[in-house]
Amino acid sequence: MNSFSEKIISWYKINKRDLPWRNTKDAYLIWLSEIILQQTRVEQGMSYYYKFSKTFPTVKHLAKADNEDVMKLWQGLGYYSRARNLHTSAKMITEKHKGKFPKEYKDILLLKGIGEYTAAAIASFAFDKPHAVVDGNVFRVLARVFGIETPIDSTQGKKNFYALANELLDKKHPALHNQAIMEFGAIQCKPVSPDCNSCPLNSMCFAYEKELVSALPVKSKTTKVRNRYFNYIVLKNKGTTSIKKRKEKDIWTNLYDFPLIETDKELTNDAFLESKEWKKFIGKNKYIVKSVSETYKHILSHQKIYAKFWEINCSASLEKIIPSSAIIIKQKDIHKYAVPRLIENYLAVKFKN
Ligand code: ADE
Repeated sequence: MNSFSEKIISWYKINKRDLPWRNTKDAYLIWLSEIILQQTRVEQGMSYYYKFSKTFPTVKHLAKADNEDVMKLWQGLGYYSRARNLHTSAKMITEKHKGKFPKEYKDILLLKGIGEYTAAAIASFAFDKPHAVVDGNVFRVLARVFGIETPIDSTQGKKNFYALANELLDKKHPALHNQAIMEFGAIQCKPVSPDCNSCPLNSMCFAYEKELVSALPVKSKTTKVRNRYFNYIVLKNKGTTSIKKRKEKDIWTNLYDFPLIETDKELTNDAFLESKEWKKFIGKNKYIVKSVSETYKHILSHQKIYAKFWEINCSASLEKIIPSSAIIIKQKDIHKYAVPRLIENYLAVKFKN
């Protein structure tokens, strides 16, 4: 074993958090936790891990579930393709692998929603296979300790970091080593203002010696953020309202929201009511604007959504107004549908039956 691995493992034994998915070798539960934790902090993911493992205790339970129930349980966690892929892969495992989670890295990698990081995590944590995990934490630790300045989002960078991670891996204890390096990155070698004076690796850390801790790791691209302006039309008539299921190739696929008029800039209320899009939507139907919400700002990784909710009372039946993609439901049933967090926030405060 190398001294890097020895040091992080000793640190881990003393400092690790007691997390439920670390007390199991069940590949299904480990997979579930890794998918939940892909874009989510441990504190936020914990309750979802408990909910999912209780509702669907095995891969077969998940495979048999109704997709709408899976999506509803995932509600609030974001990045919903994770839930869709989880469900698809559960079905693949029951069909192709007779319900037994595949043990080999290359077979795990073939499942939907599983990339190199997650495949290495499952292969090592559940089956003790010698594959090094490389996630954001690992990039940061390696870049700092070994002084690697190649951008982590470049092809060459990925190659270098994977090669080094696998070289350093304690092949006899891959699960322990991988958990240790990730936990070390999450708790000790934090992105901002890490406490380097207390760090057991500081004597071997390039960035510490050269005062480059805040400069490493290097990233070449900045993420582009797109602004979008949503005008949600919350139609109401005699206890009914209308919602629609979102389609592929945009955010929130398969979740429900309200009929939507998207504009390329934020319009004043008057300008919106004068717009072609609104006039086309409402046609000749009589309506009253019951309320217009303030602008809800909702931030995703690559998009900023500015949303207004228009509550519209109609005297005509909603069938005459709604787009063909929308459905009519009882207002009191709206909570049965899986909706994005933005809609959930609106419903919690503003939506009165
Ligand atoms: N983030 C991703 N995987 C994790 C794990 N197994 N433990 C803690 N945080 C994680």
